[in-house]
Amino acid sequence: MFITFEGPEGSGKTSVAKKIAELLKKNGYQVVLTREPGGTPIAEQIRDIILDKKNTALDARAEALLYAASRRQHLIEKVWPALKENKIVICDRFLDSSLAYQGVGRELGVNEVLNINLFATENTYPNLTLLFDLTPEQGLARIEKNKKREVNRLDLENITFHTKVRNAFLELSKKYFARYVIIDASKTFDEVVLATYEVILNRLKTENERN
Ligand code: TYD
Repeated sequence: MFITFEGPEGSGKTSVAKKIAELLKKNGYQVVLTREPGGTPIAEQIRDIILDKKNTALDARAEALLYAASRRQHLIEKVWPALKENKIVICDRFLDSSLAYQGVGRELGVNEVLNINLFATENTYPNLTLLFDLTPEQGLARIEKNKKREVNRLDLENITFHTKVRNAFLELSKKYFARYVIIDASKTFDEVVLATYEVILNRLKTENERN
């Protein structure tokens, strides 16, 4: 089962993903927790180029291609092998981040970005995508409070950009309704974890019944 966590910055999805992986492991599931861009040494090197604040000249299409390149390397080295071993893979961001940030945020077009990604992923889609939804204002306010987390190049984009990205995720949740579940990320951490865990356990149950 390939589960992706998506949503805007400050939605808390990274901390929720860690907690969920812990809970699943405690219940006997084999879990691989990973993230994009990155997740393997080569993909992390690509991540460094993309998120480096010095790279203000990075072209939007070049950026989209780098995300796709990092995604492919990550699939090859980590995600596909784990899925083959029937492990649960939880990935913090995946394809939909590219569709929302590059396709809509950077205005490259959702279909254009989807096409380069399908080349990279050979049509790999997640079984379940959790969208941790909250307003850009709430998200950015949380980031400013959380001094431990370094502010990256994309955090510095303005509210208009983040609003476009949020709406893009909501559109994607309609287009891909079968694999999408929206989680209200404005709630407390414990409430969000509980809601997320319930959705995942239910999905695991139905998958098991089907097989
Ligand atoms: P990260 O520090 O991992 O942020 P977060 O905790 O919010 O996930 O940085 C990832 C950044 O990269 C984030 O701003 C979203 C962006 N991104 C894209 O624009 N396209 C993509 O395909 C992916 C995977 C991430």
